Amino acid sequence: MLAIIGGTGLTQLANLEITHRQVMRTPYGEPSGAITFGRLRQHEVMFIARHGYGHTIPPHEVNYRANLWALHDQGAKRVIAVAAVGGIRADLVPGVLVLPNQIIDYTHGREFTYFDGRDRSVIHIDFTQPYSSKMRQQILDAAKIAKVSCLDGGVYGATQGPRLDTAAEINRLERDGVDMVGMTGMPEASLAKELGLDYAAIAVVVNHAAGRGNSRESIHLENISSVAQPAMAKVRSILECMVDSDGN
Ligand code: HPA
Repeated sequence: MLAIIGGTGLTQLANLEITHRQVMRTPYGEPSGAITFGRLRQHEVMFIARHGYGHTIPPHEVNYRANLWALHDQGAKRVIAVAAVGGIRADLVPGVLVLPNQIIDYTHGREFTYFDGRDRSVIHIDFTQPYSSKMRQQILDAAKIAKVSCLDGGVYGATQGPRLDTAAEINRLERDGVDMVGMTGMPEASLAKELGLDYAAIAVVVNHAAGRGNSRESIHLENISSVAQPAMAKVRSILECMVDSDGN
């Protein structure tokens, strides 16, 4: 089954016919909220709001391990994560959708692995390609059918938050090759890989990163929701076309 992790601006799926909600406990604690099960255009999907349904959990306190464990436990094989980002690359302006193909992790102090038990042998996962290329292609195909523009590829820089970045930090990220910056991409992507889930992310640019474009002096947080709302409507139509075209 396909699982969707909704981020800022996507705490629910408008066209999801909800069948039930499941409160879960995992060996890693509680997920961000109950898992919502339902049908999207007749196809079964599950959904979880990363920051909680009332958007109360900051990025560094999301229980990423519990969220992915719960989705996996409930039979998810594929996960699409939706995440708001700040745009660094010139074409990543507010309102643009982009599918990252690489990630750099700048987070710290988060519970980032399932393989930390001292009673087990050490396990290393291959993380050369952090996102599933098959799923990325499925999303791009669905975007075409939905007639929604979605850029293919970019490096996601995962920062700790919850504060936004300084202009100098963004300059450093750009020198590192980062195209977009967000706070939730890691450890979500690597935990999904540890569980053997097919995982891809749709990044929604909600602001110019610090020091860029109209964020030269400051980031206008008050504009974020007016940018996110229409962009999330586009994400919803991609998701609907995706479940329709692959039979889920
Ligand atoms: N920086 C970090 N995370 C973000 C941003 C940003 O500019 N916008 C949305 N998430």
